[in-house]
Formats: sequence, structure tokens, C-alpha cells
Amino acid sequence: MLTTKSNARLADLGAVRSDSLLKLITLANADTRADKIDVGVGVYRDGQGRTPVMRAVKAAEKKLWEAQDSKSYLGMRGDAEFAELLRPILLGSHAADRRIDGVQTPGGCGALRLGFQLVAKANPSARVLVGTPTWPNHVPIISGTGLEIFEYGYYDRDGRQVRFEAMLDALASARAGDVVLLHGCCHNPTGADLDSEQWREVTKAIVERGLIPFVDIAYQGLGRGLEGDAAGLRGILEACDEVIIAQSCDKNFSVYRDRVGCLFVKTGSEEATGVAMGHVLQIAREMWSMPPDHGGAVVRTVLEDPALTADWRAELDEMRARIISIRERLAAADPRLAYIGGQMGMFSMLPLTPEQVLELRETHAIYMADSGRFNVLGMADHAIDRFVAAVTDVIGG
Ligand code: LMR
Repeated sequence: MLTTKSNARLADLGAVRSDSLLKLITLANADTRADKIDVGVGVYRDGQGRTPVMRAVKAAEKKLWEAQDSKSYLGMRGDAEFAELLRPILLGSHAADRRIDGVQTPGGCGALRLGFQLVAKANPSARVLVGTPTWPNHVPIISGTGLEIFEYGYYDRDGRQVRFEAMLDALASARAGDVVLLHGCCHNPTGADLDSEQWREVTKAIVERGLIPFVDIAYQGLGRGLEGDAAGLRGILEACDEVIIAQSCDKNFSVYRDRVGCLFVKTGSEEATGVAMGHVLQIAREMWSMPPDHGGAVVRTVLEDPALTADWRAELDEMRARIISIRERLAAADPRLAYIGGQMGMFSMLPLTPEQVLELRETHAIYMADSGRFNVLGMADHAIDRFVAAVTDVIGG
């Protein structure tokens, strides 16, 4: 927090409240207990608890290393072919719609910031509707652009379901031009996605109220599959002229640290989209000038090679199957965890108080977010029984 003293110096800065998820990585790494379980941050882990480089990604990196003969600048759009090849996967039948344009970003996080900066430039008085709980970095990213946030309760922790009426009420109270942040799939942190009927109703309300949907889609392929996970977004594209999409490859290509994402913008005409993209590129130039190349080039190398693409899809299916099987195993382990079986993606929330989360950490060496969010596949197979025993012990009753 900046002090208001006019002669303030760097030494006058107050301490920052650190992002709880990233702080957890440090805490878990520092724990020397051999049986520790880190279900904090959202990374895919295999049965042995590792986060492997995907086969197709490894092969693409080799190809890239052999073929790449320059690291000269690519330009503000980064790897344009990367964004082009993502289109059919993300946009489906809208891939050929040139009112939609995309630009490479440093991860989904970069796409979110860039998209909200664009909104702030176009309409600084737009409010952003954010369903809570949400990914802890959403609110800081939006606040950083100066846009006003309107929060509504998205998830009923006790009932373990989406508070759909509250969501519709929030949409009904929004002003034309307000922005609605939506999780494309695999809701982070709850795992509670909208069903297809709910997506239809939300889309209808957005159109009726003249709102702008901003879809954050960071887990495509890890919930219902590549097609199923994009269905809500594609319904939005069908119905709305103005849409912003923050896409991430960090999870579905397992290239987390390489920071691979894309911002797509749709307006009512190719011409208006061209103008909007001019602003997007200018904002990106001010923030990071050009996106880092390696991760985008790797994803592009996978997607321009049919054999590598097929292998990537196959491995993504294996990852999704593992998520589903762990969800089923947790759900079957105790009736109080049964709801986990019907949810999507990497995350779910346990009905724990921050004190209980702390108890899990201190007594059982289990690391999860203070909110009770945990990564369902954060633990190795052999650790699942210990996790369930510790959690049910702490929940009690
Ligand atoms: C998460 O939610 O755990 C991931 O998206 C990592 C992050 O950047 O917070």
C-alpha cells in the first residue's frame, strides 16, 4: 500500500500481503517432513507426485532446438502462428470469424491483465462482476487497472453448489457495458462449473443487459475434454458481439514456468477489432513489449505437427482421466467428500476454517490454501489414504 506522504521514499512502503498460493509453495518446500503433501498450487501431478514435461512438448523442444537459428525479435504479437493454431481448439466453429483476433501473452495472467487494461481504456467507468470465491489473483489484477469490482457470491460452501440465483441477480443488477468475469471451465477454486443450461441462461442475461463477457479459460481439456470445456465459451461467442478471452496453455500443455497464454478479443466488426487490437498491442508494449518466445514456440511446434498434436491430445486425455479417477476415489472414501466426484478440474474446496487448514499443515504436513481449496491431484497415489484420514479427522463429526 502506498503511503500518501508527499515526500515518501521506498523505505516508507508498507509490507505487501503475499499471494497465498505462491507463499504455500515456499512453505511446503521448506518443510522437511518426508511424508508432506502439497495440495496447494494448481499443477498436475502423476501417480508418483511428479509434474512431468509432456511427451509432445519434450519432442517439440528438441525439434525447436534443432531448427531455430535465430533469437531475434518476433514483434509485438509474439508468435502469430501460435495464436492462429490455437483458434480451432479454443473457438471451434468460430475459428474462421475474423472479428476475433488473438495475441500471445505471458501466461493466462498476462492475458487477464491485458484484457482488463483494454476495458479500462475503452470504458474506465465499467464495473467488473466477479463471483466469489475466485482465483486469488483475479481481484488484484482487475484492481490494478483501476476498474471497480462488484463481487457476488458464486458458490455455496455449505451446500457445495453454485449459487445460481445470486449470479443471475448480480447480472440483472449490472449496467450496460459492465464486464462479467466467467471461468470457462474447471472453476478455480471450487471445481463447481455451470452446467449447459446455466451457461445458456447466463448468456441470455448478458445479451439482455448489454454486458461484456470476459472468459478466463485456463484448464481447457482437464474437465470435460477440449470440446466440452469450451462449450460455454462458444455459446457466448455465438450470442455476443463483444467478448474478451484470457486463454492459458500453462496447464493443458504443462508448461507452467514458460508462461504461455493468449488474449482473444471479439467486437462486432473486423475493423473495430483491428482498432481494439492496436490498443492491445500498445498496452502490451508498455507492460512487456513482446511476450517471451520459447513456450509459445513449443506449443506452436506441437500444433503444426499432426503426430505431436495427436500425442498431446492423448496425454491430455490421460491427465483428465487421472483427475476423474482421483475425484472418484476421494468421493468414495467418505460421504462428506462425495460432492468432489461431481466437480470439474484440478480444484475442490473443503469446508475447513483457516484454523483447521493450519492444523492440517502443522500436525499432518498437508499444505492447502487457507480457503480450503486443494488440488485434487496434488498428492501421489500412495498419499491419498493418508490425506483422506487427516482431512476427515480435522473435519470431525
Ligand atoms: C493456481 O491457482 O494454483 C495456479 O493458477 C497458480 C497461480 O498462479 O496461482
